[in-house]
Amino acid sequence: MSHESTYKPGTAIERWLDKRLPIVRLGYDSFIDFPTPKNLNYWWTFGGILTVCLVIQILTGVIIAMHYTPHVDLAFDSVQHFKRDVNFGWLIQPIHANGASMFFVAVYIHMFRGLYYGSYKAPREILWILGVVIFLLMMATAFMGYVLPWGQMSLWGATVITSLFGAIPYAGDSIKTLLWGGFAVDNPTLNRFFSLHYLLPFAIAGVVVMHIWALHVSGNNNPTGLDVKSKKDTVPFHPYYTVKDGFAMAVFLTMFAIFVFYMPDSLGHPDNYIKANPVVTPAHIVPEWYFLPFYAMLRAITFDLPFIPARLGGVIVMFSSILILFILPWLDTSKVRSMRYRPIAQLWFVIFVFNSLFLGWLGGQPAEGVYVKLSQFATAYYFAFFLLILPILGLIEKPRPMPKSIADSVLKKPKPDTQKSELAASGT
Ligand code: HEM
Repeated sequence: MSHESTYKPGTAIERWLDKRLPIVRLGYDSFIDFPTPKNLNYWWTFGGILTVCLVIQILTGVIIAMHYTPHVDLAFDSVQHFKRDVNFGWLIQPIHANGASMFFVAVYIHMFRGLYYGSYKAPREILWILGVVIFLLMMATAFMGYVLPWGQMSLWGATVITSLFGAIPYAGDSIKTLLWGGFAVDNPTLNRFFSLHYLLPFAIAGVVVMHIWALHVSGNNNPTGLDVKSKKDTVPFHPYYTVKDGFAMAVFLTMFAIFVFYMPDSLGHPDNYIKANPVVTPAHIVPEWYFLPFYAMLRAITFDLPFIPARLGGVIVMFSSILILFILPWLDTSKVRSMRYRPIAQLWFVIFVFNSLFLGWLGGQPAEGVYVKLSQFATAYYFAFFLLILPILGLIEKPRPMPKSIADSVLKKPKPDTQKSELAASGT
């Protein structure tokens, strides 16, 4: 839905620049006058929130890196020194550490929003796929970042996860040695993780630019899932959505601040306040909360399959749980985009959300007894949702009647009898 440019350079300098590098025009057409569906709800504010999260992570990260020493003998102390002795270190380090969690809260909401409203469907497949690439890069960045303070969980978390690559047939050992830079997680590992942890956020920023570019080609989806048909369906991005996004951002940043100021360690693991020790293994090695659903799926595979030993099976299942998102646009057969008009899909979706939370809880439990059985069920549901439920429901479900247009969904008064029953229900 690329639209005609409405930018009119006001001053001589603007006209001069516009002829040579129409960058102000680009900004104006993308973020001021961009025609945006008039019915976007607060779930649509998380893209902007994510952009702010990325900027916060990069700014705080660059400052921490000025004081960080990527060496196994010094890394732990350098982080503690930064927090205690460097001006504002007490503030900047918790912002960065909690910021990672906030980033994942926002990205999960953003992804579930996309899932519910069918934002991955044509013509937004590339937009969605770029999102999945961003998600993978975020996971890699967060994983490597957690290793840097070189606490007990840093070392042992890295050991568990990097060892998984050893399960890959033939190439596994070489990949592991390459990741480690040796034969165990040690100084060379810390060095390469620091280097990549610094690099990847800029790669993410690059993919985000393409993500937003793709968004500006197809235009926003919206809660009805209907396409924009006329000018009546849209409002300019500014001031309508700059204000709405700004309000949501303020609420989000308040929640973020509550974590930073009142419970800065609540999302971390106490063992990471113990310096890494390669000869003492912690009782339970658990990743950060945002990896737990995937960790549960990894550990759910406790049985060998033909040609696939259990360990490799777990690794395949864990990676597939993300890779499956790449083909989601082609798995969902429904002609109706938004689940707002798909009551049965809605039900399965709600179960999917709870199932994902449940997997997260299971990932934090010991991998034994009933927890393993429950993880197997929840993993089966996770895959069934994409491979069976969405493809089949799309063919058999009868959607609810839909409004004619986005404008109608907002402006049309409910029919008189609906109004009457609503008044009766409210007791007036
Ligand atoms: C750093 C991470 C990310 C940033 C900064 C970002 C940014 C944005 C922005 C600014 C928008 C437009 C506003 C909105 O719809 O909320 C958007 C839309 C969208 N994003 Fe992201 N995004 C990120 C990650 C992801 C991920 C991980 C996915 C999915 C796997 C994704 C999928 C989408 C989709 C499908 C839309 C279109 C939504 C619609 O119009 O209905 N994004 N993103």
